[in-house]
Amino acid sequence: TITHGQIDPRDEIAAIDRRLFGGFVEHLGRHIYDGIFEPGHETADAEGFRSDVIELVRELGVSTIRYPGGNFVSGYRWEDGIGPKDQRPRRLDLAWHATETNQIGLHEFQNWLDKVGSDLMLAVNLGTRGTEGALDLLEYANTSVRTARTDERAANGHAEPFAVKMWCLGNEMDGWWQLGHRNAEDYGKLASRTAKGMRQLDPSIELVVCGSSGRSMPTFGSWERTVLEHTFDDVDFISCHAYYQERDGDAQEFLASAVDMARFIDSVVATADHVAAVKKSDKRIMLSFDEWNVWYLSKWEEQAVAYGPDEWPVAPRQLEDQYHALDAVVFGDLLITLLQHADRVRSASLAQLVNVIAPIMTEPGGIAWRQTTFFPFSITSRLAGERAVRVAVDAGTFTSAQFGDVANVNAVATVDAEGVSLFVVNRSTTDAVDLRIDVSEFGGELALVESHLLHEEDRYAANTLADPERVGVRRVEGAQVRASALAATLPPISWAAFRLA
Ligand code: AHR
Repeated sequence: TITHGQIDPRDEIAAIDRRLFGGFVEHLGRHIYDGIFEPGHETADAEGFRSDVIELVRELGVSTIRYPGGNFVSGYRWEDGIGPKDQRPRRLDLAWHATETNQIGLHEFQNWLDKVGSDLMLAVNLGTRGTEGALDLLEYANTSVRTARTDERAANGHAEPFAVKMWCLGNEMDGWWQLGHRNAEDYGKLASRTAKGMRQLDPSIELVVCGSSGRSMPTFGSWERTVLEHTFDDVDFISCHAYYQERDGDAQEFLASAVDMARFIDSVVATADHVAAVKKSDKRIMLSFDEWNVWYLSKWEEQAVAYGPDEWPVAPRQLEDQYHALDAVVFGDLLITLLQHADRVRSASLAQLVNVIAPIMTEPGGIAWRQTTFFPFSITSRLAGERAVRVAVDAGTFTSAQFGDVANVNAVATVDAEGVSLFVVNRSTTDAVDLRIDVSEFGGELALVESHLLHEEDRYAANTLADPERVGVRRVEGAQVRASALAATLPPISWAAFRLA
């Protein structure tokens, strides 16, 4: 049977904010040290950054990069990372039980961002610190008038402000694991005070308040409500974090993960709009999905090294998940889901970027390679046009233990002046789908210019140090545009992208 669908530009969801294709770099494991920064590496530039990693990050196409954490930021003193490198203190990072050498800080990271062509999004420490530390950092980063702080910045080599637009008011403050964790009331008051001060200093910034660290958190929903009751007038975004993994070898259930993400988004939107209704406000709080990915968190919890009280390694191997083809299909579906919610999700950060639950891996002194998840991200980021458009396809459903009836096929399109891009996932573990997508609304001029398929007979195939190009994307064989319709067959457990222009 043929599954019919249609792309009609009138079914517009919203203009796409490019910040949807953001990333996240945390001082964690080998992300910074022995990841993006490895002075002894043969590709290292004058500042010690690996050029091979820079190339891959550029190819990935990440817009805004959230930094420096994550859990790390809740114990971080940003001043440790500025000034002469040989005078920077070594500190204990309580979040990941490691030693932070502070050889990379704000200035170096901004230099790296200039090389990869991405914008900085900064998080302030509202765990062990508060309003004053946040204001000091904002003044240091964004102020142009002469002050003691901006003199210091100039002396450190950056006379011009960094002009950081987006700021996160802490990280995952609802989590028991977070340094300085507090309840929604206390966090909401602190976030509001801090936001007001930050806006007094720089009214042009955009602020993200912490939402829940997951939809399964016991305080989910009430956390968002209480926090927004305190901060509604002070912030622009509320954050969402979600990680997914295959459990007990149940690939079909894992392939329903994007349904969870969609419900997460819908619930946070409803909660934010409820607060707006109570306040009789037309303001709409946007979502910053600033941590999302596949992450085998349960393996990490089971296998995490129990460091002794005197063991604080520098850049240990932590959270180095190896992603297979199935992970990449679910990952592609998460990106489709973010685009389907482009009206309210105006920013998102893939967590993370290099070595730590990452699309890019490196070996010290060796190669850098693309994990399977690299492909859906780089292709979606490159092909996504200006506006997201709904695509209705009805290829039947499967039954999920958590979500009930779940669509076998999920798709979204984007349109721009030159053409249309379609992103689609076949979640069925058993059946191929013959798609026929009507594009006649575009006037019969469109031709297929690119197609990409991510599918492996062995769904657990992965790219590794020994075999770094085992999994990739290939053309969708037989795909064609005829009589104003795109026809293509998608094998079970596959993700695909098409460009028509
Ligand atoms: O991305 C890894 C960790 O996941 C982050 O540090 C934290 O914010 C989240 O719990």
